[in-house]
Amino acid sequence: MTKLLILNGPNLNLLGTRQPEVYGSETLAMVEEKCLQHATKLGANVSCFQSNHEGVLIDQIHAAKGAYDGIILNAGAYTHTSISLMDAIFSVELPAVEVHLSNIHAREEFRHRSYISRAVIGQVCGFGSLGYLMAIDALLAHLGAE
Ligand code: DQA
Repeated sequence: MTKLLILNGPNLNLLGTRQPEVYGSETLAMVEEKCLQHATKLGANVSCFQSNHEGVLIDQIHAAKGAYDGIILNAGAYTHTSISLMDAIFSVELPAVEVHLSNIHAREEFRHRSYISRAVIGQVCGFGSLGYLMAIDALLAHLGAE
């Protein structure tokens, strides 16, 4: 069975109450449950993990090698700052998809640059929590596992 790791970065534990006009009213637990159900329907397995700490996210990416077939990552604001997270994805050589709930390209200038984008197959942004399900579809298609 194809195994995917869904990683969420800083402040995404506050989904539901954090700027709902930007990020929606679903909690992270609700989004993760949706991912779980969607993946199960497609015959895949997902594990979800969230951290507010860059190093912890990097450790999770390292540990994914050999344990998962691909990674879905919403790195939050680390997207725009973290060369280390980008390097971690390059290092494990696992296919990855970048997700953002909001359309980062339509927001402040500093959100337009994503270091993560250089290391992933593609980016899904602007579709709210649906973006995670789209990322699951895209990753499974890429892996030839749909
Ligand atoms: C985000 C967009 C980032 O710019 C922001 O820092 C986040 C959330 C999104 O999902 O839209 O924390 O990654």
